[in-house]
Amino acid sequence: MRNKILALEESVLQLDLKEKRRKDFNDKVINYLNKFIDELNLKNGFDSDFKTSEAVFDLAFNEHGYPIDKILHLFEKAVNNTGIQPASGAHIGYIPGGGIPTAAYGDFIAAMTNKYSGIYYANPGAINIENHILNWFAQLFGFNIDQFGGNLTTGGSIANLISIVAARDKHNIKGKDYERTVIYGSEQMHHCIHKAIRISGLSECIYREIPLEKNFHLDTNALKNQLHKDLKNGLQPFLIIASAGTTDTGVIDDLQTISNLADQFNCWFHVDAAYGGFFYLLEAYKSKFKGIEKADSLVIDPHKGMFLPYGSGAVLIKDRKDLLKTNYYLANYMKDAYSGHEHLSPADLSPELSRNFRGLRLWIPMLFHGIAPFKDALNEKLLLTQYLYNKFKPLSYIELGPPAELTVFTFRFKSDHQNTETLNREILAKMHEDGRIFISSTTINKQMWLRVAILSFRTHLREIDLLFDMVEKHFKNQITTSSA
Ligand SMILES: Cc1ncc(COP(=O)(O)O)c(C=O)c1O
Repeated sequence: MRNKILALEESVLQLDLKEKRRKDFNDKVINYLNKFIDELNLKNGFDSDFKTSEAVFDLAFNEHGYPIDKILHLFEKAVNNTGIQPASGAHIGYIPGGGIPTAAYGDFIAAMTNKYSGIYYANPGAINIENHILNWFAQLFGFNIDQFGGNLTTGGSIANLISIVAARDKHNIKGKDYERTVIYGSEQMHHCIHKAIRISGLSECIYREIPLEKNFHLDTNALKNQLHKDLKNGLQPFLIIASAGTTDTGVIDDLQTISNLADQFNCWFHVDAAYGGFFYLLEAYKSKFKGIEKADSLVIDPHKGMFLPYGSGAVLIKDRKDLLKTNYYLANYMKDAYSGHEHLSPADLSPELSRNFRGLRLWIPMLFHGIAPFKDALNEKLLLTQYLYNKFKPLSYIELGPPAELTVFTFRFKSDHQNTETLNREILAKMHEDGRIFISSTTINKQMWLRVAILSFRTHLREIDLLFDMVEKHFKNQITTSSA
């Protein structure tokens, strides 16, 4: 028996790379990544050759594995060189992240040391790091740090879901209440909140899509009228959802007025600031967010406005009791972990128990770089956006959407002789085929618009000038200038 166990041990030891193999593995991975970063500027923002990604299926899982060079080679070909290149500054499409390297090293250290960040007792340092970050966020947005509850999530969708469920439980909404309970949002509310409403069982409540005013903000007069009407008709206004930075048009709703209405009608006030939230770091922009401090729940996404690799959202709930009500659970086998200390842990404040120690990917960059370069990057993106908008303005063949409040705006090509939608679809397809710069499209008022979202920390003047040149020298030629 002992010999059998020792023989197995010998095999298992392979999983813990021995010194020489580890060095070889490390060198190859780090060399690969260094080359990737050094050559990023040469890469396209998008590669439409999806067929190549199928090569992943060619390498079957077997009993004895493959050399790391072979694995990296396949990764380069099938993963890294296909689809969108979000690490590149040429990604001006969806809401870009970017992925600062120091955060990636944070992930690496977190995974290697594998500290357990679910419960304080298992690793107080890990939980203290996460609470330190959450306290900083809470202070930034004017929450009371002795009362708020927060959680570092994997992204904005889960953070929104946690918020909607907390609202449901705080207001004690049960199945029998659905048919008279009302949720208010706008057409520009992110679709992940519709999903959250569905997942939380609230899709049988009444949902009011409040119209937008001309610049795409939620129309607060329409909201007020609807609230009065609903109350008068014996319905129960419950939840009002506002956006601080909409995904399609980049605008910030009038949070102050909406928060007052939420107060007046005893509604939970939710703010989705997944995209826009970190612009609040800039003194000059704070006034645009007035009222954000009144949110009962607030979502921010460090993998957007703090340029982290994907995998970082955060939720702040004004009163931590509302988060505990849904998420706290003392399992029989966890009682030791809770005796003798009062500290709250991520497991008490979110649906997760075991989770990756995601605080480190924020903590290391925040301490190492300091906050100033993050603010500078946000300022740079705001200026790049205004610069591009202003360069488009005099072009007779471009129609612009509303001025950018943050770093997203819409535009489209126009022609007296072509259908606008067809023309823009054709041009976007050509842009994607070209791939040097990746932009996206959206539908507003049933019409297609092209859309730029400038938020990658690697997007600089070079990329914006390139996009402008592509439009002026190349894509403009798609427009027919006569009806012949
Ligand atoms: C305003 C807004 N809310 C929520 C989300 C969803 O966040 P995530 O993709 O991190 O789940 C996004 C994503 O772009 C967003 O822009």
